[in-house]
Amino acid sequence: MSDVLAVDAVGLTKTYGALTAVDRLSLQVGRGEVYGVLGPDGAGKTTLLRMLFGLIRPDAGTLSIFGRTWAADGIRALDGVAGFIESPRFHPGLSGHKNLQLLGGLDGGPSRSRIDEALETVDLRDRAQDRVGGYSSGMRRRLGVAASLLRDPRLLVLDEPANGLDPAGIRDMRALVKRLAESGMTVLLSSRDMAEVEEICDGVTIVRTGTAVYHGSIAALRARAPEQAHTIRTTDDDLAARVAVRRGLGVDRLDQGLAVRGPQAEIDSLVAKLIGAGIALRELARRETPLEALFRRLTEAPAGALA
Ligand SMILES: Nc1ncnc2c1ncn2[C@@H]1O[C@H](COP(=O)(O)OP(=O)(O)O)[C@@H](O)[C@H]1O
Ligand SMILES: [Mg+2]
Repeated sequence: MSDVLAVDAVGLTKTYGALTAVDRLSLQVGRGEVYGVLGPDGAGKTTLLRMLFGLIRPDAGTLSIFGRTWAADGIRALDGVAGFIESPRFHPGLSGHKNLQLLGGLDGGPSRSRIDEALETVDLRDRAQDRVGGYSSGMRRRLGVAASLLRDPRLLVLDEPANGLDPAGIRDMRALVKRLAESGMTVLLSSRDMAEVEEICDGVTIVRTGTAVYHGSIAALRARAPEQAHTIRTTDDDLAARVAVRRGLGVDRLDQGLAVRGPQAEIDSLVAKLIGAGIALRELARRETPLEALFRRLTEAPAGALA
């Protein structure tokens, strides 16, 4: 049974009236994998994770978690699974430590050292005695991870863990997920941010309006990504465009300046050439990363265009 998948979803479908929130979605997560479900707002990520946690029932399809299904195993389908959907909830008037004690009590009451260990892992040990009401959203989110860790999960499920956090909060949350992943835990997370998934995950399913438009490794996705584009604005954009085209770079006119696509070394040499020709550079900026550009194409193309 060691090759049993952590998550094996086949043809999952969930409709709300006329709206199909999740549409014949299949997804396989191997043990020890860090897997991302990536999609824009409304793509069906939370609906998928709600089905996984048994909060809603799929209209069609099958879902097994470490080989267990809701139909055959009931609540035991969640053995070894912990995490949160949207935002974790806590009692704001109580400390982080006390909240964990209460939550842990539902699972038989963790020892003090177990709670301290979980708080340590999420970097909240020094704030453990403070009221949760005074925590930042990043801290609350990390406390949610600590609450999940008390259950000693084999599979940790996180719904947009970094969404809405400030840059420092995002950095801390990503570092935490990476640490947990390195400890061998299987992680399934949803995200709307390609850069986040690229940084943390091994594999990804990209979803748009409930349908998977890409499954595979981040490495394979990179191979499909378009070339990096830069915005270049100079004192003579007409000449700059001609020089860029002559060098085999892709060029698009912008309201202000040019979008130039090609290998970094070619962009560097174009800039040197322009400056050498007495043209001044007013702006040079990297546009979205190649994977971000691909993500946008995959999730914004009109329906049917990707088939
Ligand atoms: N309980 C519900 N009733 C009606 N529509 C819902 C419900 N939950 C989600 N939806 C709709 O399903 C779609 C997917 O939502 P959701 O899974 O929350 O997307 P995501 O988490 O990717 O932003 C959206 O169009 C949303 O409005
Ligand atoms: Mg959501």
